[in-house]
Amino acid sequence: MAWSEHQRSMLAAMGLRVWSMPTASEPDGAVAAVLDEATPPAPATRSPAQAAAPAPVVSRRPMSAAPPQAAPVAAAGAVNAVGLDWPALREAVASCTACALSSTRTQTVFGTGHPKAHWMIVGEAPGEAEDLSGEPFVGRSGQLLDNMLRAIGLSRHGGDMPDPARQVFIANTLKCRPPRNRNPLPDELARCEGFLIRQIELVRPKIILAMGSFAVQSLLRSSAPVGQLRGRAHSYQGVPLIVTYHPAYLLRQQSEKARAWDDLCLALDTVEAASTTVARD
Ligand code: URA
Repeated sequence: MAWSEHQRSMLAAMGLRVWSMPTASEPDGAVAAVLDEATPPAPATRSPAQAAAPAPVVSRRPMSAAPPQAAPVAAAGAVNAVGLDWPALREAVASCTACALSSTRTQTVFGTGHPKAHWMIVGEAPGEAEDLSGEPFVGRSGQLLDNMLRAIGLSRHGGDMPDPARQVFIANTLKCRPPRNRNPLPDELARCEGFLIRQIELVRPKIILAMGSFAVQSLLRSSAPVGQLRGRAHSYQGVPLIVTYHPAYLLRQQSEKARAWDDLCLALDTVEAASTTVARD
């Protein structure tokens, strides 16, 4: 596939090295790209001309029709966070003993970011670095995530007068580290999900990025592989939701980074299309 100048400049800003690799199906060169997590890219800036141009979406499949949705129903045994405000929710997470992870954690990892961010990132569970620091995504996958976000002009660190449209709120399906970073258990996910549901209600994001299969299981109630669900916009309670690979997976499978870039472009395009529609209404 051929890339425009605009797409190439966005890729470069993201720290993606791009090269063309002829294949049987795409003899004029399929693009492979690698995101270099060691080199923080400069923020992607868009010139007025670029800003007016459509975002470089690779997958342009339409958003799945969003059926009317009832309020999310927390699974049996879930913590009850209904109606809590931010301080009460923080306190409820910090003191939670709903599952056995409370006895092995150093501390809970609530989530971080702008309370009214337009973008919400949902990951899996804290790892060792997060358990020690209390912040989500601070290890190697966090560095990669920050670079991915910076490449599309987003940040988790507000600054003085942050524009919510450029801010993210990052949360996990689990607020406590599973021992030895094992996968979350179904019962742990079920009990913890009331916290995530309430976080999403409070932030009211314009778009959700679900990273990895556990975020997908929680938010879409789907056990389909990420590879099958990515590439189109889904809906969580009327909020567009894009499925993408977990950064930890991308660190192991470098070749999938080009697809993760496609997903970010699709998310950008989806959120821009939604805001244009609202502005016109
Ligand atoms: N992986 C996650 O899913 N979340 C974190 O906070 C860290 C690593």
